[in-house]
Amino acid sequence: GKGNHAHFMMKEIAEQPAVIGDTLQAFLNPLKRQIELPPLPIDLAKISQLTIVACGTAYLAGFVAKYWLERIARLPVELDIASEFRYREAPMPKDGATLVISQSGETADTLAALKYAKAQGQKVLAVLNVPESTIGRESDVVLHTLAGPEIGVASTKAFTTQLVVLAALAIATARARGAIDAQREAELSTALTEVPARAAEVLNHDARLKEIALKVAECRDVLFLGRGTSYPIALEGALKLKEISYIHAEGYAAGEMKHGPIALIDDNVPVIVVAPSDDLFEKTASNLQEVRARGGRVIFFSDKAGIARLGDAAMAAIELPTVDPFVAPILYAIPVQLLAYHAAVAKGTDVDQPRNLAKSVTVE
Ligand code: F6R
Repeated sequence: GKGNHAHFMMKEIAEQPAVIGDTLQAFLNPLKRQIELPPLPIDLAKISQLTIVACGTAYLAGFVAKYWLERIARLPVELDIASEFRYREAPMPKDGATLVISQSGETADTLAALKYAKAQGQKVLAVLNVPESTIGRESDVVLHTLAGPEIGVASTKAFTTQLVVLAALAIATARARGAIDAQREAELSTALTEVPARAAEVLNHDARLKEIALKVAECRDVLFLGRGTSYPIALEGALKLKEISYIHAEGYAAGEMKHGPIALIDDNVPVIVVAPSDDLFEKTASNLQEVRARGGRVIFFSDKAGIARLGDAAMAAIELPTVDPFVAPILYAIPVQLLAYHAAVAKGTDVDQPRNLAKSVTVE
């Protein structure tokens, strides 16, 4: 059941501190402050490339993973949505591996992409919430997200637990390739260990996010901006908002604004800026100022330092916990979910069963 919640989606958002913790326990040894993965069919030290394929929100988890694996593990990553990948006949390196990500394990395009990769001689790793699924049976190893059943059509806790598993994979890959030392692994592991408590703090902003969502619900178009790992979170924010509230939303890399979308900015288009304090913060800050200069109304998701620096330029700001930038995308996923949820409730849509959508897309 939904417990005290009006919708499964809200119940599943609220479960995130617990299920992130459950998933971490399966992959992280908190005493040794080390990642522990099950035996893999590939040698992470030796692969030349990882190809990540998925659909929708699972694809956006893969997008964050690409940034992580390239940055901390120095592993080249190819990323595509499954419906394109399955038909584009990409050459795949013999010493590469493929990673598929799926909540249901039944998504037809992701399964077809997996079969293509296998036919190309690739070993396949799968990040799945339902290991006893078709994709689970076809894969060489399953890394299990312990999100529990996800009923709401919009993926929430499956996404953040996918990020947790992918973060663990990125750290293990970095270690195997000698790209990080034991001390950095311990720091990253500690940052991950703190995510459940920080996620619970983020949920405390629910009432304020609801107020902001009531304003967003009156708009026809919304933009989400971010850089680095905040870019896929911006895309996820836009995906969540459009699928459940039917408000047109787009996610953009903040630096790409001036190549077109800035023409859309006026005081009717709220711009949600996802910007934790990280090495790209100042770049995003100048994009935020460009939006302001054109009369755009900014909703700013940042931390204490970011809000001290730029909060005055925003119509509204949400202060998220200060964390190692590595784990920030896991936490910043939560306010974009809550914003979409409350906007959808305000619009009176069927939040758990949005029109035209199915929980598991078993046809292409
Ligand atoms: C968005 C959403 C979809 C799924 C996509 C993949 O909220 O739920 O975009 O993420 O259909 O589904 P799975 O993960 O089951 O392969």
